[in-house]
Amino acid sequence: GASYEHILTSSAKPGVGLITLNRPKALNALCSPLFTELNDALSKYDADKDIGAIVITGSEKAFAAGADIKEMAPLTFSSAYTNNFIAPWSHLANNIRTPTIAAVSGYALGGGCELALMCDIIYCSSTATFGQPEIKLGVIPGAGGSQRLTNAVGKSKAMELILTGKNFSGKEAGEWGVAAEIAGYSRVATVAAKEVVNKSQELSLREGVEYERRLFHGLFGSQDQKIGMTAFAEKKKPEWSHE
Ligand code: CAA
Repeated sequence: GASYEHILTSSAKPGVGLITLNRPKALNALCSPLFTELNDALSKYDADKDIGAIVITGSEKAFAAGADIKEMAPLTFSSAYTNNFIAPWSHLANNIRTPTIAAVSGYALGGGCELALMCDIIYCSSTATFGQPEIKLGVIPGAGGSQRLTNAVGKSKAMELILTGKNFSGKEAGEWGVAAEIAGYSRVATVAAKEVVNKSQELSLREGVEYERRLFHGLFGSQDQKIGMTAFAEKKKPEWSHE
C-alpha cells in the first residue's frame, strides 16, 4: 500500500482494505499526524470500487491507547476551540460509506475506544480491553465516547464507565471472516444497508421505514438487483457487478 509513517495499509483479502495503526512505541496513541494519515487511507479505500469493507486494527498489545496525551498536555482552551481539536476524527463516522470493522486486541482506551465505536462492527480478541479513562486525566471523552458508548451499552452502564474510567473487556473473539463476507456482497447493497441501519439512530420509526422503502425502491435500478435475483431463480451464485 501507500507509504505512511504511523499506519500500514494493505489489502489483506480480496476486497478488504486493511489499516494497521503502527506507532508501537506509544501503544498507537492517536496523535494528529496519525489521524491525518488514517483519514487519507480511509478516503482512498472508500473511493476504491474494488474495496467492499475496511478493517482497522492495531497491535496485539494495543489497538490504541487513546489520544496522544503528550500532544494534548500543553493545549489551551483557545487553541483547542479555534482549531476545532479532534473534529477531523469524525471523518470515519461522517463520511466513510464503506462498511468498517474494528479488529481489537489489547488496549482500546479513550480515543482508541472511541475510534472502535465509530466503526460499524467491533470484533475483539480475548485480550481486548476497553475503557474511557479521561476522567483520570481531568477531562471527559472528546471523540464521541459519551454518545456512542451510551448507545452501545445503555445510559446507566455508560455513566458508570465514564465516571469511573474503569476498563472493560471485549466479549467476542476476533473474526476476519466477516469482512471478507461483507466484501463479497453487492457494493451498492452493502452501502445502502449501512445507510439505512444508521438512519434508525436519527429518524423516527415512521420516517426510518419510509427512508428504507425509498432506498429499497432505488435498488431496483441497480444491476446487482437483477444479478442477485436472477441467480437465485437459476440456482447459481451471483457474480456481482461492483458497479
Ligand atoms: N498518549 C501518549 N503516549 C502514550 C499513551 C497516550 N494515550 N499511552 C501510552 N503512551 C506511551 C507511554 O507514555 C509510554 O511512552 P514512554 O515509553 O516514552 O514512557 C509508552 O506509550 C508505553 O506505555 P506504558 O509504559 O504506560 O505501558 P504500560 O503497559 O505500562 O501501560 C497503558 C499501558 C495502561 C495503556 C498506559 O499506557 C496508559 O494508561 N495509557 C494512557 C491511557 C489513556 O489515558 N487514554 C486516554 C487518553 S485521553 C483521550 O483519548 C481523549 C479523547 O477522548 C479523545
